[in-house]
Amino acid sequence: MTVPSVTLNDGNTIPQLGYGVFRVPPADTERAVTEALEVGYRHIDTAAIYGNEEGVGAAIAASGIPRDELFITTKLWNDRHDGDEPDAAIAESLARLGLEHVDLYLVHWPTPARDNYLHAWEKLIALREAGLTRSIGVSNHLVEHLEKIVAATGVVPAVDQIELHPAYQQRDITDWAASRGMHIESWGPLGQGKYDLFGAEPVAAAAAAHGKTPAQAVLRWHLQKGFIVFPKSVRRERLQENLDVFDFELTPEEVAAIDAMDPGDGSGRVSAHPDEVN
Ligand SMILES: NC(=O)c1ccc[n+]([C@@H]2O[C@H](COP(=O)([O-])OP(=O)(O)OC[C@H]3O[C@@H](n4cnc5c(N)ncnc54)[C@H](OP(=O)(O)O)[C@@H]3O)[C@@H](O)[C@H]2O)c1
Repeated sequence: MTVPSVTLNDGNTIPQLGYGVFRVPPADTERAVTEALEVGYRHIDTAAIYGNEEGVGAAIAASGIPRDELFITTKLWNDRHDGDEPDAAIAESLARLGLEHVDLYLVHWPTPARDNYLHAWEKLIALREAGLTRSIGVSNHLVEHLEKIVAATGVVPAVDQIELHPAYQQRDITDWAASRGMHIESWGPLGQGKYDLFGAEPVAAAAAAHGKTPAQAVLRWHLQKGFIVFPKSVRRERLQENLDVFDFELTPEEVAAIDAMDPGDGSGRVSAHPDEVN
């Protein structure tokens, strides 16, 4: 199973499909990540706030997989944007992960009411220059936040990791990304199981047409849209299922039918809005 790589705007490459560990309980994380590595994942998405970086690090260490074959992302939490806090935060994350650098470090949320996301972005630029992370990006940044940090620094994030699934496609941000050479990472790619995505007609029809599961059809849609994706599961059979999406292709009509599932008024959002997280 070879997962295709995407080349980011800084020249680094990232496996387009990985494993996200949000809500994987800390005590279960080493087991879950070990299984993910066993079935073939090489890209892991964690965050300081998930509380499970140590489990990710333990699984990496036990795996024996060469460091340069792994792509590890973690994130700066909201209460650590100010002053030199980002320096301390990444040092703590690296210690928990048992790594000398991460591959991608993200500002987790813009926390606009605190008005300190530009400072956080400037600190990430310095962390990349110091070699503590290979690539830098943001998460949950709206177009206005992206415009502000790029105008001030001239550095376009490698990625913006945003809630994105068929009912909530955030086209203002994906259009901005396409025009500025930034990649989109879809979080909650399966809608976090919070609506009947798998029973929706365009998804069910595409799955049936290709002899695949609805989850596989949705993941295929993300990949064909060019998004980077890292579905979460704690079950080995679903880890395998979610990785087994490179032997079929949705037709343009099937992609268009899933594109049409977003009602366009923001009502498909299943989690927090960036303006509400401070
Ligand atoms: N930057 C951010 O603010 C942010 C926010 C949220 C998430 N994320 C990242 O994005 C990753 C993925 O998003 P997410 O975990 O929120 O949601 P998700 O991947 O859309 O959905 C996960 C849910 O789907 C279930 N599931 C997984 N594979 C399945 C399959 N093949 N068939 C049926 N159900 C399946 C899982 O259950 P089981 O575990 O029981 O299988 C879990 O309940 C996270 O782990 C995290 O790395 C980032």
